[in-house]
Amino acid sequence: MTQTTARPARDFGDRTSYDAFMRVVESRLTTRAFDPRHVVPREHYDMILEAARHAPSGANAQPWHFIVVTDQALKDRITEYFRDEQIVRAKLKMKFPTPDYRGLATAPGFIVVASDFRWVRAFPVLNDGSELDRMYKQNAERILLQSVAAATMSAHLAAAALGYNVWWVTAIGQEKAQQAMKPLLGIPDELSVLDIMCFGVPAKPPYKRWKKDLRDIANWNGFDPAHFMTDAEIDEWVATARHKVMYRDAENVD
Ligand SMILES: Cc1cc2nc3c(=O)[nH]c(=O)nc-3n(C[C@H](O)[C@H](O)[C@H](O)COP(=O)(O)O)c2cc1C
Repeated sequence: MTQTTARPARDFGDRTSYDAFMRVVESRLTTRAFDPRHVVPREHYDMILEAARHAPSGANAQPWHFIVVTDQALKDRITEYFRDEQIVRAKLKMKFPTPDYRGLATAPGFIVVASDFRWVRAFPVLNDGSELDRMYKQNAERILLQSVAAATMSAHLAAAALGYNVWWVTAIGQEKAQQAMKPLLGIPDELSVLDIMCFGVPAKPPYKRWKKDLRDIANWNGFDPAHFMTDAEIDEWVATARHKVMYRDAENVD
C-alpha cells in the first residue's frame, strides 16, 4: 500500500516570494534629490496608496490620510518652509546634520501623511483628565503613530517595488510646521501632518547606507546584555558616527 503523506497547504520551504520581497526591501533607498523631468503616472500614486491601504492598524482604526501634492507651486511653498526651518536649526546650533531640503522641490510629487489623533478614543482611555487617563492616551498615541508608520512603510516599499527611490521626511513635528502646511492643503485643524513621502527617479545614483548586523539586533529568548548601550556609548555614536551613517556609505564608517 502506498503511503500518502499530507501535503502542507503552502510550501513553507519555497523562498521565491521572500527573495522577490527582499529585493524590494533592499532596493528601498533614500535619495534627497530627484530628476524633476521624470513624470510619475497618476496610476503609480494609486498603486502606492493601495499598498498603504492594506496596512495593519491598532483597533483597525486606519487613522491615516494621504494628500498627494503634484502642483509645483505648492511643492515650492512646502520646500520653502523646510528651508526656513533648516536655517532656524542651523542658527540654534542643534548640531543635527540637516540635509539639503531644496531637493524636496525636485520630487515629482509629495504624499503628505496626516493622522487624526482623535482616534485615541478607539483605545482604552478614560477621558476624565486624570493622570491614568494621560498615560493611556500616551499609549494610544503611540499605537496611532505605529499604525501610520506601518501604512507609510507599505507605501515606501510599493514605491521601491515600482523602481523608485524614496525620501521619508518628518522634520515637521512642530506646531509652526502644522500651521504652515495645513492651510496650504486645506487640512482640517483636527488632523496632524506627520510626514511627507517623496519618491521618484534619483538625481544622482543612490547608495546603500550602513545597517546594523543581524546578530546585533536579534535576541533569542531574552535580551542579550551585549547589545545594551550605555548613555555614554550612545552619545559617542551620535557625536562620531551619526553624520556618516546618515549621508555616507557603510564602507565609509570607521
Ligand atoms: C521615521 C523616519 C523619519 C525620517 N525623517 C527624515 C527627515 O526628516 N529628513 C531626512 O532627510 N530623512 C529622514 N528620514 C530618512 C532617514 O534618514 C533614512 O531612512 C536613513 O538615513 C537610512 O537610509 P535608507 O533609507 O537609505 O536606508 C527618516 C526616516 C524615517 C524612517
